[in-house]
Amino acid sequence: MNENLVERALGPDEPPLPATENRDLLARLLKRLAHEVRNPLSSLGVHFQLLEEDLSGLPPELRARIASRIGIIDGELHRLDSIVERFLKLAGPSALELAPVEIGQIVRHVCELLQPEASARSVEIRHAVEPGLPPVTLDSVRLTQALLNIIINGVQAISGPGVVTVSAGRAGEKLWLRVQDTGPGIPAHELGEIFDPYFTTKAEGNGLGLWIAQQIAVAHGGDLSAENAPDGGAILTLTLPLSRKE
Ligand SMILES: Nc1ncnc2c1ncn2[C@@H]1O[C@H](COP(=O)(O)OP(=O)(O)OP(=O)(O)O)[C@@H](O)[C@H]1O
Ligand SMILES: [Mg+2]
Repeated sequence: MNENLVERALGPDEPPLPATENRDLLARLLKRLAHEVRNPLSSLGVHFQLLEEDLSGLPPELRARIASRIGIIDGELHRLDSIVERFLKLAGPSALELAPVEIGQIVRHVCELLQPEASARSVEIRHAVEPGLPPVTLDSVRLTQALLNIIINGVQAISGPGVVTVSAGRAGEKLWLRVQDTGPGIPAHELGEIFDPYFTTKAEGNGLGLWIAQQIAVAHGGDLSAENAPDGGAILTLTLPLSRKE
Protein backbone atom coordinates (compact mmCIF):
# COMPACT_ATOMS: atom_id res chain seq x y z
CA MET A 1 0.00 0.00 0.00
CA ASN A 2 2.85 2.35 0.81
CA GLU A 3 4.39 1.79 -2.61
CA ASN A 4 1.09 2.73 -4.11
CA LEU A 5 1.01 5.84 -2.01
CA VAL A 6 4.43 6.93 -3.19
CA GLU A 7 3.61 6.25 -6.80
CA ARG A 8 0.49 8.29 -6.58
CA ALA A 9 2.14 11.16 -4.75
CA LEU A 10 4.96 11.47 -7.24
CA GLY A 11 3.25 10.35 -10.41
CA PRO A 12 2.21 13.13 -12.80
CA ASP A 13 -1.33 11.96 -13.56
CA GLU A 14 -2.67 10.58 -10.34
CA PRO A 15 -4.18 12.55 -7.47
CA PRO A 16 -1.46 12.73 -4.81
CA LEU A 17 -3.70 12.23 -1.78
CA PRO A 18 -3.21 8.75 -0.30
CA ALA A 19 -6.29 6.85 0.82
CA THR A 20 -5.26 6.83 4.48
CA GLU A 21 -4.95 10.62 4.49
CA ASN A 22 -8.33 10.89 2.82
CA ARG A 23 -9.86 8.69 5.50
CA ASP A 24 -8.25 10.70 8.25
CA LEU A 25 -9.51 13.98 6.91
CA LEU A 26 -12.96 12.58 6.26
CA ALA A 27 -13.13 11.26 9.81
CA ARG A 28 -12.26 14.71 11.17
CA LEU A 29 -14.81 16.43 8.96
CA LEU A 30 -17.54 13.94 9.90
CA LYS A 31 -16.84 14.41 13.55
CA ARG A 32 -16.88 18.17 13.26
CA LEU A 33 -20.08 18.08 11.24
CA ALA A 34 -21.74 15.74 13.72
CA HIS A 35 -20.82 18.03 16.61
CA GLU A 36 -22.10 21.09 14.76
CA VAL A 37 -25.38 19.39 13.93
CA ARG A 38 -25.93 17.97 17.39
CA ASN A 39 -26.39 21.32 19.13
CA PRO A 40 -29.26 22.69 17.02
CA LEU A 41 -30.72 19.19 17.01
CA SER A 42 -30.95 19.00 20.79
CA SER A 43 -32.46 22.45 20.92
CA LEU A 44 -35.03 21.31 18.33
CA GLY A 45 -35.81 18.35 20.59
CA VAL A 46 -36.50 20.58 23.57
CA HIS A 47 -38.73 22.91 21.57
CA PHE A 48 -40.54 19.98 20.09
CA GLN A 49 -41.45 18.75 23.55
CA LEU A 50 -42.70 22.23 24.51
CA LEU A 51 -44.74 22.32 21.33
CA GLU A 52 -46.34 18.97 22.20
CA GLU A 53 -47.33 20.41 25.57
CA ASP A 54 -48.83 23.48 23.91
CA LEU A 55 -50.78 21.26 21.52
CA SER A 56 -52.35 19.30 24.34
CA GLY A 57 -54.35 22.42 25.19
CA LEU A 58 -55.95 22.60 21.73
CA PRO A 59 -59.49 21.42 20.93
CA PRO A 60 -59.58 17.65 20.16
CA GLU A 61 -60.41 17.88 16.43
CA LEU A 62 -57.52 20.25 15.80
CA ARG A 63 -55.19 18.04 17.83
CA ALA A 64 -56.14 14.97 15.78
CA ARG A 65 -55.30 16.79 12.56
CA ILE A 66 -51.92 17.90 13.79
CA ALA A 67 -51.05 14.61 15.52
CA SER A 68 -49.90 12.76 12.42
CA ARG A 69 -47.61 15.60 11.34
CA ILE A 70 -46.20 15.83 14.84
CA GLY A 71 -45.57 12.09 14.75
CA ILE A 72 -43.58 12.43 11.54
CA ILE A 73 -41.48 15.31 12.87
CA ASP A 74 -40.80 13.36 16.06
CA GLY A 75 -39.72 10.28 14.06
CA GLU A 76 -37.45 12.30 11.79
CA LEU A 77 -35.84 14.09 14.73
CA HIS A 78 -35.01 10.73 16.28
CA ARG A 79 -33.67 9.49 12.97
CA LEU A 80 -31.38 12.51 12.64
CA ASP A 81 -30.24 11.99 16.19
CA SER A 82 -29.22 8.41 15.55
CA ILE A 83 -27.45 9.35 12.28
CA VAL A 84 -25.38 11.89 14.18
CA GLU A 85 -24.58 9.36 16.89
CA ARG A 86 -23.48 6.85 14.27
CA PHE A 87 -21.21 9.41 12.62
CA LEU A 88 -19.67 10.30 15.95
CA LYS A 89 -18.91 6.66 16.65
CA LEU A 90 -17.51 6.15 13.17
CA ALA A 91 -15.25 9.16 13.44
CA GLY A 92 -14.28 8.51 17.04
CA PRO A 93 -10.76 9.39 18.10
CA SER A 94 -8.49 7.34 15.90
CA ALA A 95 -6.23 6.11 18.65
CA LEU A 96 -2.51 5.82 18.08
CA GLU A 97 -1.27 2.25 17.97
CA LEU A 98 1.78 2.54 20.13
CA ALA A 99 4.70 0.16 20.25
CA PRO A 100 8.41 0.61 20.95
CA VAL A 101 10.30 0.98 17.67
CA GLU A 102 13.79 1.62 16.47
CA ILE A 103 13.68 4.95 14.68
CA GLY A 104 16.55 4.04 12.36
CA GLN A 105 14.49 1.20 10.98
CA ILE A 106 11.62 3.51 10.09
CA VAL A 107 13.96 6.04 8.49
CA ARG A 108 15.68 3.38 6.38
CA HIS A 109 12.36 1.84 5.37
CA VAL A 110 10.90 5.17 4.24
CA CYS A 111 14.04 6.08 2.30
CA GLU A 112 14.15 2.72 0.54
CA LEU A 113 10.50 3.06 -0.30
CA LEU A 114 10.95 6.43 -1.95
CA GLN A 115 14.34 5.95 -3.59
CA PRO A 116 13.11 4.38 -6.87
CA GLU A 117 10.68 7.22 -7.53
CA ALA A 118 13.24 9.79 -6.44
CA SER A 119 15.89 8.23 -8.71
CA ALA A 120 13.54 8.62 -11.64
CA ARG A 121 13.79 12.36 -10.93
CA SER A 122 17.57 12.27 -10.37
CA VAL A 123 17.13 12.79 -6.66
CA GLU A 124 19.18 10.83 -4.15
CA ILE A 125 17.77 10.14 -0.70
CA ARG A 126 20.42 9.84 1.98
CA HIS A 127 19.94 8.92 5.59
CA ALA A 128 22.06 9.52 8.65
CA VAL A 129 20.83 8.19 11.96
CA GLU A 130 22.79 8.77 15.15
CA PRO A 131 23.97 5.42 16.52
CA GLY A 132 22.68 4.20 19.87
CA LEU A 133 19.29 5.92 19.84
CA PRO A 134 16.92 4.37 22.37
CA PRO A 135 13.70 2.73 21.13
CA VAL A 136 10.76 5.14 21.02
CA THR A 137 7.15 4.29 21.75
CA LEU A 138 5.11 5.50 18.80
CA ASP A 139 2.65 4.61 16.07
CA SER A 140 4.98 3.46 13.33
CA VAL A 141 2.33 3.55 10.59
CA ARG A 142 1.50 7.17 11.37
CA LEU A 143 5.09 8.23 11.74
CA THR A 144 5.93 6.56 8.42
CA GLN A 145 3.08 8.47 6.84
CA ALA A 146 4.34 11.77 8.26
CA LEU A 147 7.87 11.13 7.05
CA LEU A 148 6.66 10.10 3.60
CA ASN A 149 4.71 13.34 3.25
CA ILE A 150 7.71 15.43 4.24
CA ILE A 151 10.26 13.60 2.09
CA ILE A 152 7.95 13.57 -0.93
CA ASN A 153 7.73 17.36 -0.63
CA GLY A 154 11.52 17.52 -0.64
CA VAL A 155 11.73 15.36 -3.75
CA GLN A 156 9.02 17.40 -5.46
CA ALA A 157 10.78 20.67 -4.60
CA ILE A 158 13.93 19.66 -6.47
CA SER A 159 14.09 20.19 -10.20
CA GLY A 160 17.03 18.45 -11.76
CA PRO A 161 19.58 16.48 -9.78
CA GLY A 162 19.52 16.91 -6.03
CA VAL A 163 19.63 15.32 -2.62
CA VAL A 164 17.17 14.84 0.22
CA THR A 165 18.86 14.01 3.49
CA VAL A 166 16.92 12.40 6.31
CA SER A 167 18.68 12.46 9.65
CA ALA A 168 17.72 11.53 13.18
CA GLY A 169 19.26 12.14 16.56
CA ARG A 170 18.65 12.88 20.18
CA ALA A 171 18.64 16.20 21.99
CA GLY A 172 18.03 15.77 25.72
CA GLU A 173 14.68 14.09 26.23
CA LYS A 174 13.65 14.60 22.64
CA LEU A 175 14.23 12.78 19.44
CA TRP A 176 14.51 14.83 16.25
CA LEU A 177 14.00 13.81 12.65
CA ARG A 178 15.20 16.24 10.03
CA VAL A 179 14.50 16.27 6.31
CA GLN A 180 16.67 18.64 4.33
CA ASP A 181 16.57 19.09 0.57
CA THR A 182 18.63 20.87 -2.05
CA GLY A 183 15.58 22.57 -3.58
CA PRO A 184 14.92 26.31 -3.61
CA GLY A 185 13.61 26.42 -0.03
CA ILE A 186 10.30 27.85 1.16
CA PRO A 187 9.67 31.53 0.43
CA ALA A 188 9.84 33.45 3.75
CA HIS A 189 6.29 34.78 3.40
CA GLU A 190 4.96 31.22 3.05
CA LEU A 191 6.65 29.78 6.12
CA GLY A 192 3.66 30.66 8.27
CA GLU A 193 1.15 29.06 5.92
CA ILE A 194 2.60 25.76 4.77
CA PHE A 195 1.04 23.83 7.67
CA ASP A 196 -2.44 25.19 6.98
CA PRO A 197 -4.80 22.62 5.49
CA TYR A 198 -5.27 23.18 1.75
CA PHE A 199 -2.30 25.53 1.42
CA THR A 200 -0.53 24.48 -1.76
CA THR A 201 1.56 26.07 -4.48
CA LYS A 202 1.35 22.97 -6.68
CA ALA A 203 -0.99 22.60 -9.62
CA GLU A 204 -1.82 19.05 -8.50
CA GLY A 205 -1.35 19.51 -4.77
CA ASN A 206 -3.96 19.09 -2.08
CA GLY A 207 -2.13 21.09 0.52
CA LEU A 208 -2.68 18.40 3.13
CA GLY A 209 0.68 16.61 3.39
CA LEU A 210 2.28 18.89 5.96
CA TRP A 211 -0.92 19.50 7.84
CA ILE A 212 -1.33 15.75 8.31
CA ALA A 213 2.33 15.33 9.23
CA GLN A 214 1.98 18.04 11.86
CA GLN A 215 -1.19 16.45 13.27
CA ILE A 216 0.71 13.18 13.60
CA ALA A 217 3.65 14.87 15.35
CA VAL A 218 1.30 16.67 17.76
CA ALA A 219 -0.67 13.49 18.46
CA HIS A 220 2.61 12.00 19.68
CA GLY A 221 3.29 14.98 21.94
CA GLY A 222 5.83 16.41 19.52
CA ASP A 223 5.84 19.03 16.79
CA LEU A 224 6.87 19.81 13.24
CA SER A 225 8.58 23.02 12.12
CA ALA A 226 10.08 24.42 8.94
CA GLU A 227 13.02 26.67 8.15
CA ASN A 228 15.41 27.31 5.30
CA ALA A 229 19.07 26.34 5.30
CA PRO A 230 21.48 29.30 5.00
CA ASP A 231 22.65 27.97 1.63
CA GLY A 232 19.10 27.29 0.36
CA GLY A 233 16.85 24.27 0.60
CA ALA A 234 14.12 23.55 3.11
CA ILE A 235 14.61 21.88 6.48
CA LEU A 236 11.64 20.22 8.14
CA THR A 237 12.19 19.10 11.72
CA LEU A 238 9.89 16.70 13.52
CA THR A 239 10.50 16.28 17.22
CA LEU A 240 9.11 13.56 19.47
CA PRO A 241 9.35 13.15 23.22
CA LEU A 242 11.47 10.14 24.14
CA SER A 243 9.11 9.16 26.90
CA ARG A 244 5.40 9.67 26.67
CA LYS A 245 3.51 11.49 29.38
CA GLU A 246 0.09 9.84 29.72
N1 LIG B 1 10.62 20.93 0.90
C1 LIG B 1 9.92 21.97 0.44
N2 LIG B 1 10.49 22.94 -0.33
C2 LIG B 1 9.77 23.97 -0.78
N3 LIG B 1 8.46 24.16 -0.52
C3 LIG B 1 7.83 23.25 0.22
C4 LIG B 1 8.52 22.10 0.75
N4 LIG B 1 7.63 21.38 1.48
C5 LIG B 1 6.45 22.03 1.40
N5 LIG B 1 6.56 23.15 0.64
C6 LIG B 1 5.48 24.11 0.35
O1 LIG B 1 4.41 23.88 1.25
C7 LIG B 1 3.20 23.63 0.54
C8 LIG B 1 2.32 22.69 1.36
O2 LIG B 1 2.90 21.39 1.41
P1 LIG B 1 1.94 20.16 1.65
O3 LIG B 1 2.75 18.92 1.65
O4 LIG B 1 1.09 20.43 2.83
O5 LIG B 1 0.97 20.20 0.39
P2 LIG B 1 1.30 19.85 -1.13
O6 LIG B 1 2.61 19.13 -1.21
O7 LIG B 1 1.15 21.10 -1.92
O8 LIG B 1 0.13 18.86 -1.48
P3 LIG B 1 -0.07 17.36 -0.92
O9 LIG B 1 -1.38 17.38 -0.21
O10 LIG B 1 -0.07 16.54 -2.13
O11 LIG B 1 1.06 17.05 0.00
C9 LIG B 1 3.65 23.10 -0.80
O12 LIG B 1 2.68 23.29 -1.81
C10 LIG B 1 4.92 23.92 -1.05
O13 LIG B 1 4.58 25.20 -1.53
MG1 LIG C 1 3.03 17.49 0.02
